Amino acid sequence: MVAGASRCPQAIRGYDSRPVNIDLRDSWTLGNVLIPSRLVLAPMAGVSVQAFRRQGRRYGAGLVCSEMVSVAGIQHRNERTLGYLRVGADEHPLAIQIFGSDPVAMAEAARMVEAAGADVVDMNFGCPVKKVTKTGAGASLLDDPDRACRLVEAVAGATSLPVSVKTRRGVENGSRDCLTVGPRLVEAGAASLTLHPRSAKQMYTGTADHSLTAELVSLVNVPVIASGDVTSRAKAQAVLATTGAAAVMVGRGAQGNPWALREIMGDDSEPSREEIVAELLLFIRETVRELGEFRATGFLKKFYGWYLGQGRFPKPFKQELVVLKTIDEVESRLLAAAPGAADVLERLEADLGPADEVLLDSLPISLYGGG
Ligand SMILES: Cc1cc2nc3c(=O)[nH]c(=O)nc-3n(C[C@H](O)[C@H](O)[C@H](O)COP(=O)(O)O)c2cc1C
Repeated sequence: MVAGASRCPQAIRGYDSRPVNIDLRDSWTLGNVLIPSRLVLAPMAGVSVQAFRRQGRRYGAGLVCSEMVSVAGIQHRNERTLGYLRVGADEHPLAIQIFGSDPVAMAEAARMVEAAGADVVDMNFGCPVKKVTKTGAGASLLDDPDRACRLVEAVAGATSLPVSVKTRRGVENGSRDCLTVGPRLVEAGAASLTLHPRSAKQMYTGTADHSLTAELVSLVNVPVIASGDVTSRAKAQAVLATTGAAAVMVGRGAQGNPWALREIMGDDSEPSREEIVAELLLFIRETVRELGEFRATGFLKKFYGWYLGQGRFPKPFKQELVVLKTIDEVESRLLAAAPGAADVLERLEADLGPADEVLLDSLPISLYGGG
């Protein structure tokens, strides 16, 4: 069984202790888009690169999301921002998430997202980071429901794709604002809501209070996705059973741990050392292709700990990897630790199709290592 995952529903604090049996493999629809499972991979800034999303699809996520993309960056045709709009052929269904506070700019960004080949436009009304909230975007929109509704109307009117909104419970601790704002966003055109029931002030402390998710589900007639603290099949089933949500979203639990997704989908076999190293090597290669070696070298360091931690490899091994200067050295060191990983990697690479399906002529592929 994957480290950190619990097979036993009794272990969940605050949840009904009776075993529940919800089929995570059920499909559902978000607008007119068929989502083939009730597991969604969370958008995470600095994490949700294409390699992460493609891996998430392989391990059972029915919907994957880009990290939040700045509408101002799209407007200014910022090269790095446009890189976030690259869509892989095997990522569908994929949501691209945008953030901003100006309806005209949001509408234009939504059109770009559609042209890029995404299946869903997701709007970020939950980011708690000051740099974002001080511009009137992210979680601060929960304090400005009129603007929030105007943004949803503008985006829903600009694209034929379904529009979803991801939000928190409110800005202040204990806030229940999501319950008043959520239904208004649906009236404004949102085809789905994702709730991470922590306040913006909480950031990631405390626990996600999914009793609010259950209340939101009872107030709206669109699918709700439950985000927050889902790390195991038992927790996923308990959250789905107690909230009536259409799907659960998994974020931190999947960092360097696609096997948590596999466990949630019903296969709790432990990954071998070879499998872990092969997935990490594939992730490294894919990320270098996407970001170029220079950016990827720094970006990847946090993933070494995520993949190799959890008691899988001795701690000094990760420390050894993060100080290596080149990706080639990292690859060699990993293969020396698990020589059998080379064969597993070869099979994984053979199974993967071509990476990119770049529809927008203007997307700068050179900087991102080509296709
Ligand atoms: C590193 C990191 C980056 C995140 N970036 C985003 C983001 O870009 N957009 C977003 O809507 N949520 C973002 N989130 C929030 C997650 O999508 C998710 O709602 C939250 O982590 C709770 O789920 P979890 O307990 O499964 O991690 C981020 C979370 C983390 C940890």
